[in-house]
Amino acid sequence: LVARLVVDPAFVVGPLDRRVFGSFVEHMGRCVYTGIYEPEHPRADADGFREDVLELVRELGVTAIRYPGGNFVSNYDWEDGVGPKDQRPRRLDLAWRAIEPNQFGTDEFVAWSRKADVQPIWAVNLGTRGIREAVDLLQYCNLPAGTALSDRRVANGSPQPHNIKIWCLGNEMDGPWQIGHKTAEEYARLAEETANAMRRVEPDLELVACGSSNAGMPTFGEWERVVLERTYDLVDHISLHAYYEPRDGDQASFLAAAEEMDRMISSVIATADHVKALKRSDKELTLSFDEWNVWYQQHFPGELGLGIREAGPLIEDSYTVDAAVVVGSLLITLLRHADRVKIACLAQLVNVIAPIRTEPGGRAWRQTIFHPFALTARYAGPTVLQTAIAGGPEIDTAAFGKVPALWSTATYDENTGETAIFVVNRSETDKIDLEIPVNGLQVAEHIALYDEDRSAVNTADQPDRVTPRTVDGTEIVDGVCTATLPPASWHLIRLS
Ligand code: AHR
Repeated sequence: LVARLVVDPAFVVGPLDRRVFGSFVEHMGRCVYTGIYEPEHPRADADGFREDVLELVRELGVTAIRYPGGNFVSNYDWEDGVGPKDQRPRRLDLAWRAIEPNQFGTDEFVAWSRKADVQPIWAVNLGTRGIREAVDLLQYCNLPAGTALSDRRVANGSPQPHNIKIWCLGNEMDGPWQIGHKTAEEYARLAEETANAMRRVEPDLELVACGSSNAGMPTFGEWERVVLERTYDLVDHISLHAYYEPRDGDQASFLAAAEEMDRMISSVIATADHVKALKRSDKELTLSFDEWNVWYQQHFPGELGLGIREAGPLIEDSYTVDAAVVVGSLLITLLRHADRVKIACLAQLVNVIAPIRTEPGGRAWRQTIFHPFALTARYAGPTVLQTAIAGGPEIDTAAFGKVPALWSTATYDENTGETAIFVVNRSETDKIDLEIPVNGLQVAEHIALYDEDRSAVNTADQPDRVTPRTVDGTEIVDGVCTATLPPASWHLIRLS
């Protein structure tokens, strides 16, 4: 089977906002404790941060990290997590029915994010708390010394403002599982007034309103309309969350999960633009896809099935080769919408549905999904280009009907002249020969991720069982680059 991929620097989607290579740290399971923070670990630094994990985070190429939740934030009192550690209270976290020791909080996360070289994205508690708590936290973080709240930060060891610019107005407030869950109208009013008050502290913040928890929510679409009708002029982004998994063993639909993400993004853009029309506004709202990943939710017992414990393992999914191909295809989808998706967070970063896994006191390793993320973050250029696929085969999926087997995007760097092509073969059965007319370019590199055993995973003992491989034989003949794409495979082809 042969397909032709056409790409040209003249056909631009938009500039790539590098915050789409974001991730997410929640106080959940072992993401924070024994994940990024473990003072007793042999590789802990003076702050108790695991240096082995920091090294992997930098290698992953993450640019921004959302914190501290997630469902956790909706019953979190940020005041518990600042000040002398021996005076911080132990609390019951209602979201994950866990004991929160509060040994890691606002100031620690800011210090950690500086070491990891990532921009923090902060979520405020609009579940059990509201406007007052949000503006207090903002003042604690961002005001210069000289007010009660900012002086508290100074007393806690941070003389300079934390300067956090991106703030999420709550988390998944449409979800009945959320502590303090609200109707669209209730949330819209609270988000409106919280945004108003936060902008009084600092007018140029970037604010993210909560969209739907997933596209299957009964209120999907209507929730966004109601929330945006109230907040359109006050916020910059609307959030999207989505997790994908093979359902009932349907691996073909799982490999095509990017279709679901693509449709969700298009629907939210349509809803935002509908509100724009209603308001006769010139402003174009953008999207923050601030939770996305593969999550085998059928393995999750549900919040109420969790016994109360401290930093116990929670949803530590081991990712297969297929999961890595899907994650690569989801990143392709985000790039295809670079004109409207400005922030995206792979959820989460360490241990909890994460690209990085750790043992308490022991090793850290890269899951399969680490690789397409790291390579995309590393090689995606500043401008996203359209790609057109001609003549390629289709695959038949139970979830999405017939869809193209190939799913692709490309980026261009006008300084280096490099074009990076990201493409996935979603067929379970067919290898595809891809032809790319290249206009005088050379193949710099072809890297792929696939395996005979599509269920293979990386473990502490076999951390490199699944790694990307360099593909030989991708060459240019008569101005056409020809590459072979095996079934269920992810590819990066760099042309320069
Ligand atoms: O990432 C795990 C959980 O998934 C988050 O806490 C929540 O926001 C979402 O439902």
